Amino acid sequence: MPQLSGTAEHWQAVYDRNDPQNVSWYQPTPAMSLRLLEAGGARPGSSVLDAGGGASTLVDELLVRGMTDVTVLDLSEAALAAARRRLGERAMAAHWMARDLLTWSPLRRYDFWHDRAVFHFLTDPADRDRYRRVLAAALATRGQAVIGTFAEDGPDSCSGLPVARYGVQALAEQFPGFQVVQAEQEQHRTPSGGWQSFTWVRLVRLAEGAPPSYAPAPAPAPAPAPQPDSLY
Ligand SMILES: C[S@@+](CC[C@H](N)C(=O)[O-])C[C@H]1O[C@@H](n2cnc3c(N)ncnc32)[C@H](O)[C@@H]1O
Repeated sequence: MPQLSGTAEHWQAVYDRNDPQNVSWYQPTPAMSLRLLEAGGARPGSSVLDAGGGASTLVDELLVRGMTDVTVLDLSEAALAAARRRLGERAMAAHWMARDLLTWSPLRRYDFWHDRAVFHFLTDPADRDRYRRVLAAALATRGQAVIGTFAEDGPDSCSGLPVARYGVQALAEQFPGFQVVQAEQEQHRTPSGGWQSFTWVRLVRLAEGAPPSYAPAPAPAPAPAPQPDSLY
């Protein structure tokens, strides 16, 4: 059996010890993910990579929508096995990769990269660089990335690990080769009844050399200044 890194051991143990429906990030329906992927034009012919997808139900929903090119990649074989058990025979319609995202060399490109609650674990700048390199190698030229992290008012740790929290602007700045075309805030209800605040962005890859990146929504027009004669 290959030697697992500390991070891989951590996540393997999490999924070995917990029912996937009881972990804080569990959601019966990944509504925000689906909304953003659909807004990006994902359709049955699109290829989707769920990066750090764990035992998420996103793959179930994508298969139900007729998508035939869905890959779930995760460090934890236990997480992927739980998802495959849930899906039964339908699991054969998806691709499963037990890999460390940060050392992965993609052999092909995907139309959509999806990451819910993975990037925010990268508190070391060198790991964020690695993530960006893999994202760039895995995404098609006109591909899109849908990324959700804890928001600035979200938890400062998850599963016993520290996380980095992001607002839209800060998250956009992490991806200079991309344009933010949609940004959302979400309150996630955990299985134990708590709330977690998420920031989501949908990113479109910019052409080489195009200027970055996040164009904030225009500020509301200021109220018209009172005319001198309106003072009387
Ligand atoms: C909080 S869980 C989120 C799982 C899933 N995205 C969801 O929304 O249900 C974080 C996931 O990232 C995976 N993960 C963490 N670091 C990873 C890495 N370097 N490569 C691949 N997967 C990783 C973990 O195994 C875990 O499944």
